[in-house]
Amino acid sequence: MTLEELRGGVERIRREWTESLPEACDLEALEQLRVQFLGRKGRVTALLGRMKELDLAQRAEAGRLLNKLKDEVTRELEERSLALEKAAVEERLTAEGYDLTLPGVWRPVGHLHPLTQVRLEIEDIFLRLGFDVATGPEVETDYYNFEALNIPADHPARDEWDSFYVGEGQLLRTHTSPVQIRVMKERRPPVRIICPGKCYRRDNPDATHAQVFHQVELLWVDEELTMANLKWIIGEFVGAFFGPDYEMRFAADYFPFTEPSAQVHIRPRGRAATGRHLGGWLEIMGAGMVDPLVLEEVGYDPERYTGFAFGLGVERMAMLRWGIDDIRLFLQNDPRFLYQF
Ligand code: PHE
Repeated sequence: MTLEELRGGVERIRREWTESLPEACDLEALEQLRVQFLGRKGRVTALLGRMKELDLAQRAEAGRLLNKLKDEVTRELEERSLALEKAAVEERLTAEGYDLTLPGVWRPVGHLHPLTQVRLEIEDIFLRLGFDVATGPEVETDYYNFEALNIPADHPARDEWDSFYVGEGQLLRTHTSPVQIRVMKERRPPVRIICPGKCYRRDNPDATHAQVFHQVELLWVDEELTMANLKWIIGEFVGAFFGPDYEMRFAADYFPFTEPSAQVHIRPRGRAATGRHLGGWLEIMGAGMVDPLVLEEVGYDPERYTGFAFGLGVERMAMLRWGIDDIRLFLQNDPRFLYQF
């Protein structure tokens, strides 16, 4: 065989392949065609086998021609095979009467309420820092909600916590701080807890006030704790929850159960400041060093122990995170709102 004859052979096979391919109308016919051309005894294979009849100098060119033929045939075979498979599926679907353009049935899947998501995330952050989660009753006594926290009946600060009374000396707790008292009375220092839960106040509902809302209280009592430790913990929390794009500051405040007391503000810095709340400072919690009178009340020696506490609003956290501008949305149970989170 000469190189010219081989060239002629390649062209013939090429032509015949191109003619037979469209005639293979199903996968079975296509497979027969494959065996005929590419099989062990197929035509391409046969021609490849005859290459050794050529002069050494011509084999390179012959190899190139044959490989090109083989590649083309293989590729076209695959394309045809995919097309036939697709046609077969479509034919079956039509025969069985399926309409693939029919819209699907949407089955709503439940998920955690945005406030629950935020609460769990906050718990997670403090569990990692070595805090326990503690809880207390929502129906509290005047003693735990006020008296033990250094807020006697005639204290003007009571107005800050306008309350729902449910009986003589009993009320819906106005904050999670009473859990501090309950836990301290049960344990000895060191005490390191957070207390998430619902709170109730007789506020007029508006975009930033709800009569039912959630707080997470934090309390750490030990020897030698200072305001610096409080600041560090809050910084860790803000970093973990909001990320590095927020800065924080402390402003003086007053609570009967902490001294000194502070409110903590955060503000997005840099690029974040162009976003939701335009860079203004926002209060996220009340905080302070536990007042020695409170430590005495629960039987801790204020000469030996110090502690700090804060109470943060869970709704506030969620509103900041997602740019929600009305606190009332959380309790309306409107799926159009809830399904966004
Ligand atoms: N209990 C306070 C409130 O609800 C917040 C607070 C908690 C302040 C702990 C200081 C320390 O307003």
